[in-house]
Formats: sequence, structure tokens, C-alpha cells
Amino acid sequence: EIGRKLFAGDVQFLKGVVAMDGLPPADRIEVCFAGRSNVGKSSLINALTGRKGLARASNTPGRTQEINFFTLGDDRYLVDLPGYGFANAPVAVVEKWQRLLKAYLAGRASLRRAFVLIDARHGTKSVDEEIMALLDQSAVPFQVVLTKADKVKSRDMEPMLAQVRKTLAKHPAAFPEMVLTSSEKGDGLATLRAVIATLV
Ligand code: GTP
Ligand code: MG
Repeated sequence: EIGRKLFAGDVQFLKGVVAMDGLPPADRIEVCFAGRSNVGKSSLINALTGRKGLARASNTPGRTQEINFFTLGDDRYLVDLPGYGFANAPVAVVEKWQRLLKAYLAGRASLRRAFVLIDARHGTKSVDEEIMALLDQSAVPFQVVLTKADKVKSRDMEPMLAQVRKTLAKHPAAFPEMVLTSSEKGDGLATLRAVIATLV
């Protein structure tokens, strides 16, 4: 299985970044996890790496408040981003993260792919489309990762997928293939590991 070895190997928290001048050197292959608050970004990093407490996850939207860099093997970064949309934090603080998040997504030379996480129960919302438009403008290829698949009834799956596909068709930087995941049950994790491991 491609990616299994990489993810079973060395993964370390490097740093939490609060301003663009704090970013580490852009000298590794980098992927980031973006999405609305509480969509499951930090949980997905933990599930992919099999390290439960690596990225801090919680049921409170706005848990991740910095851009957190994790080293994966010796040539890759996994980047956990603060969420966008509603967060349980003061407005001024949230605005500061949002500015940083957008500056990062638009201006990071080594960013190979952004994973845009979408809750599989809800499909894409207007805030997701705003981020997708930013990624289009910045020519950052992005791929949708549907999260919390374990919470979706099978009859709701196809309409949700159709809605997300329709959104993606409007965005030139989007990969048409989506990855359906569950950090709880493990669905899609091997696929996502393989995607990350094969980026050059
Ligand atoms: P912020 O950092 O606040 O933006 O949130 P986040 O996107 O990092 O979400 P986080 O990983 O903290 O998860 C939010 C909540 O969703 C937690 O209570 C998780 O346990 C739950 N969760 C995450 N992934 C899954 C999943 O695949 N299935 C289920 N059932 N719950 C999940
Ligand atoms: Mg988080």
C-alpha cells in the first residue's frame, strides 16, 4: 500500500504559526487541511498518522487557532489550519486567523495541494465556495475531502455528492475526484495517504 510506510514513520509537531513571517522555510512538499470550523481537520491528521493527540481536536468550533506544521518523513509537511466560518472565539481574534489563513492559502510557494474538508452531512456552503475561489485565483490545486462519512445515511450520500460535484465544476483549481473519509471508522484514509505520499 503506497503511503503506509511514510505515515507509519516519523511524524513530529514542528511549530504553531501566528503570522506569515513565522512560517518555516518553504523547502518541503506541503499539503494543508482547510475547512469550516469543526469539520474534522485536526481529527483527520490524527487518523492519517495514527497518533491520537498529535493535532488538538475538540467539539468546540475554533479549537485550532494557529497554523500548525507537522513534519512527515524527511521531505513533507502536513499543515493543520484554523477553521473558517463560525468559531467559538471573539470576533477580532477570529478575523485575525482568517486574514492569516487567507494569506497562507494565497501565498505559500511550497503548497502542493490544499485539501478542502467538507462535512459529508452538509455538503458545500457559501464560505467553502469563497475559499475555493481564493484557491482558484491563487492557482493552488485543491481536492475535496468529505468528512464524517460514518454519520451519513446511505440514501443521503448520492444527493450530497451531486451537490458537491456541481460546486466543484465551477472551480478550475478543483480536482474532480473527492475522497470520502471517516476519521472514526478509517474510511478513505489509505487513499488519502497514497495521494499525499505520491505528490512530487
Ligand atoms: P477547528 O480546529 O475548530 O476548526 O475544528 P477541526 O476541523 O479541526 O475539527 P476537529 O478535528 O477538532 O473535530 C471536531 C469534532 O468532530 C470532534 O468532536 C471530532 O471528534 C468530530 N469528528 C471529526 N472527525 C470525525 C469523523 O470522521 N466522524 C465523526 N463521527 N466525528 C468526527
Ligand atoms: Mg482543528
